[in-house]
Amino acid sequence: MNLATAGEEPGQNRVSTRGFLADVLAGLAADPKTLPPKYFYDTAGSELFDAICEQEEYYPTCTEISILRTHANDMAKAIGADAMVVEYGAGSMEKIRILLDALVTPVAFVPVDISEAHLIASARELSRFYPSLAVQQVVADFTKPVHLPAPPRPVSRCVALFFGSTIGNFDPDPTVAILRSIGDTVGPEGGLLIGVDLQKDEDRLVRAYDDAAGITADFNLNLLTRINRELGGDFVLERFRHLVRYDRDLGRIEMHLESLVDQSVGVAGRAFNFFAGETIHTENSYKYTLASFDDLATRAGFRCDQYWTDGEGLFAELFYIRTP
Ligand SMILES: C[S@@+](CC[C@H](N)C(=O)[O-])C[C@H]1O[C@@H](n2cnc3c(N)ncnc32)[C@H](O)[C@@H]1O
Repeated sequence: MNLATAGEEPGQNRVSTRGFLADVLAGLAADPKTLPPKYFYDTAGSELFDAICEQEEYYPTCTEISILRTHANDMAKAIGADAMVVEYGAGSMEKIRILLDALVTPVAFVPVDISEAHLIASARELSRFYPSLAVQQVVADFTKPVHLPAPPRPVSRCVALFFGSTIGNFDPDPTVAILRSIGDTVGPEGGLLIGVDLQKDEDRLVRAYDDAAGITADFNLNLLTRINRELGGDFVLERFRHLVRYDRDLGRIEMHLESLVDQSVGVAGRAFNFFAGETIHTENSYKYTLASFDDLATRAGFRCDQYWTDGEGLFAELFYIRTP
């Protein structure tokens, strides 16, 4: 288990303005233009994501919740008593409550997230419902190694949770790298319970990422608002639109921001030209088969212990054990 040593501050991988600026300048100078999806999640972005989860078209949230509700006891049995559970990309911490109600004497819950204010508020809210549970939040970018806080009492095992198909936001090689890093954090015989979105018909996928109420569009465009506010950008939001496409060959949903006109946009004194129809690629969401995801997890040093899926085969929850 990868524990923070004395004096080391858990959460040293916070997003810095310098890092954000460097990534934005590099991404807008690239061809095609691209921005990393982790920057969606300022406080407004986290709230917009919560609103996406309530849209009728966005099946991943309600489907994963139904799998968790149906199989929480089996999952708790697989995890075992006296575990330290670490949730990567914990967001609003709604799903963890289902599992916490089934877990036997968990030692601590460690939510890890990049969205600092939202993480702190959600951890505080969770503690109101579980006053005797140690909730030890860590503000961190999980694409880098995460150091865990010292638990309040001995731990039988460390288990990572990774809900919401957040892992689908990464290309295959970075996915293996993140899973391997999680494996280093939980240590040999540590566990990983991970939610994976499965391949399905294209219309359903596109609708999930382009809801009729326009919430996902607002979520995508909020990235430009954040650049304007934090990096002195001058994006005019009305000159961009949310665009969703499915790449069948790669099995992934893509989100873009499409420029509606020829224009030049300034960020921190640098000018970036857009032609009408040019896009900034802001997010991927890979859709897997059980076998194609298992291939990546195996490469990262995990073996599948068991998995659960819904009746329609939309989504899967897989429990892995880190091989020694
Ligand atoms: C798709 S949302 C899922 C939220 C929640 N787990 C769920 O299932 O509804 C992704 C979450 O991961 C967080 N996140 C995204 N990229 C991250 C990164 N690189 N490091 C840490 N947290 C990240 C976001 O702030 C957000 O809370």
